[in-house]
Amino acid sequence: MGNWRMGRRDLQHARVLVTGASSGIGRELVRALVRCDAAVWATARRTQRLEALAAELTGHAHPVLQAAGDITAADFRADLCRRVDQTWGALDVLINNAGVGAIGPFAAADAARLRQVMEVNFFAPAEWMRAALPLLRRGRQPLIVNIGSVLGHCAVGLKSEYCASKFALRGLSDALRIELAREGIAVLLVSPSTTQSEFFDSLVASDIPRPRALGRPMPADRVAAQVLAAMRRGRREIVLSGGGRLLVWLQRLAPTLLSRLLVRWG
Ligand SMILES: NC(=O)c1ccc[n+]([C@@H]2O[C@H](COP(=O)([O-])OP(=O)(O)OC[C@H]3O[C@@H](n4cnc5c(N)ncnc54)[C@H](OP(=O)(O)O)[C@@H]3O)[C@@H](O)[C@H]2O)c1
Repeated sequence: MGNWRMGRRDLQHARVLVTGASSGIGRELVRALVRCDAAVWATARRTQRLEALAAELTGHAHPVLQAAGDITAADFRADLCRRVDQTWGALDVLINNAGVGAIGPFAAADAARLRQVMEVNFFAPAEWMRAALPLLRRGRQPLIVNIGSVLGHCAVGLKSEYCASKFALRGLSDALRIELAREGIAVLLVSPSTTQSEFFDSLVASDIPRPRALGRPMPADRVAAQVLAAMRRGRREIVLSGGGRLLVWLQRLAPTLLSRLLVRWG
């Protein structure tokens, strides 16, 4: 059955794997999930951050399980899937949240910047989905949540690699939503706008100052709350913030006008 027909999803005791759990949106997703009694495997590279998060969230229905590693490494993905299998025997929700950005002119950057952004934001989530499918097939109301971006709908200058990676993730999410529907595996694409997190402190080899944000950044806990609401309601796609929805609308209805505005604005 396609996910657009699915009813409400109960997150209590849902078994969820969250990538990018050491800061920002991922950390808030773990907090929100644990508070509603979901069981969570949290992953990122910074071990101490994961340990601190697990320590903070004791006393709930399930302890936070942690696995530190680089999501772009195939061995790490395979090993963590094995551990999920050993602990739970199945997975209900995979949340591909980890991501990196890069800012600066495309021509002045090198191939390494493009590859790194694509590795983390596109190839890693793609391969997480492939690796987790056997576990998801055994899950209850299985769901893949991909954290994209408004910039996966509407491209802007000086963030070309990032836009490309998020457009690719959106295309893959749309294709897999159709392909996996018969197996009852749903795909939710989340497109946040600028969010308060460590994102702009961890940019890949970026060579210009941070550009102006469109509107006020959204707190990461609000993003997490909206993601959980969308998961519960069985939504297929959400775009966060009024400014973000306006951009996506303009992109669909008046792409030429929007390009002109962005050239002026940039
Ligand atoms: N912040 C924004 O304005 C914004 C807007 C739209 C969309 N988004 C998207 O939201 C998602 C979360 O970003 P955020 O804003 O919460 O940024 P953040 O605070 O920088 O968090 C990024 C997370 O990804 C992890 N990560 C990065 N590279 C990794 C790697 N190679 N292996 C494992 N983990 C890795 C980081 O953990 P470690 O460093 O510990 O590995 C961290 O936990 C991203 O997909 C981003 O593109 C953000």
